[in-house]
Amino acid sequence: MIRPWLSGFPARKKALAVIAVVGTVGVAAAACANGGSGGRTASASGAKPSSARSSGPGGQNGPTGSTGSTNSSGSTGSSGRSATGTSGPSSPGGSASQGTTGNTGGPGSSTGNGTPNPGATTPASPGAPGYRLPATPRKNADVDCSVAKCIALTFDDGPGPDTGRLLDLLKAQNVPATFFVLGDQAVRYPDMVRREYAEGNEVGNHTWDHKDLSKLSAAAVRDEINHGADAIAAAGIPRPTLVRPPYGAVDDTVRSVAGFPFIMWRVDPEDWKYPDAARIADQIVSHAKPGRIVLSHDTRRTTIDAMPAVIQRLKQEGYTFVTVSTLMKGVSLQNGTSYFNRPAGNSQH
Ligand code: NI
Repeated sequence: MIRPWLSGFPARKKALAVIAVVGTVGVAAAACANGGSGGRTASASGAKPSSARSSGPGGQNGPTGSTGSTNSSGSTGSSGRSATGTSGPSSPGGSASQGTTGNTGGPGSSTGNGTPNPGATTPASPGAPGYRLPATPRKNADVDCSVAKCIALTFDDGPGPDTGRLLDLLKAQNVPATFFVLGDQAVRYPDMVRREYAEGNEVGNHTWDHKDLSKLSAAAVRDEINHGADAIAAAGIPRPTLVRPPYGAVDDTVRSVAGFPFIMWRVDPEDWKYPDAARIADQIVSHAKPGRIVLSHDTRRTTIDAMPAVIQRLKQEGYTFVTVSTLMKGVSLQNGTSYFNRPAGNSQH
């Protein structure tokens, strides 16, 4: 609606991304194309044509090529929402406008995220400035995915208006997921970010506002990532340590300056392109394999509609749902490296 983030996404990336993924897993994980409706704020009124704000496998060799593409409408979408009241990326290096600069808290930590008011003790009530939720054990955190049949559901671009419905479902099913949250959405929905964390899910960083990092300067890349992390931490949870680059778009510059590992995906139902719950469920279930990471969007109502069937069917197949960090437990994640699944012998059955 306001920000034409799709315009920053070159069509060539889509073409290359499709080639890259089809060749490896047979999932047509097209990069952010034109067909999706409203990325993040599509409400019940239904969404104007625009772009999903994610998708597109990236990784080491996905979206960084330079060939042309026939995608002719990839830059026409617009979506978004009203200003959130905070400025965009500010100074390079990640200084944030939300008072959390320089925080170092990691997953599982309930402290170390700084407080907006230096010197203040942690407030006791949720929602109060500087309040930090107590450390929350992630569901299924004890599972060893080098042995167990694990799969990680991930949800991008939120929180959004429908995220609560998804959380209700995950909670009822005792299924943990990983949410790759946008910093500016975290500013809009801080309560939902806290809830994601408090209910045993993992919260990762999808950058501040979904720019294509491969098109930015090194300083701007750092700012997008760190500003996103700071905004998420400012909601009152540990500062995320996993990054999902928008569109999966990374290049040498992004890899060298990110300072975090990149969590990509191996299964993509293209939920932004096909708002069909049955199709989404079929795509996810049919491409599920142990160790894989599934991409979808909690900003998409039909995606959430699909999840009861996804969960039921994968449970019937013996899968254990885990967060990305649990999936990767025992793997030494390297900053600037892209991970599409658990990189072990059991991930490619
Ligand atoms: Ni996205």
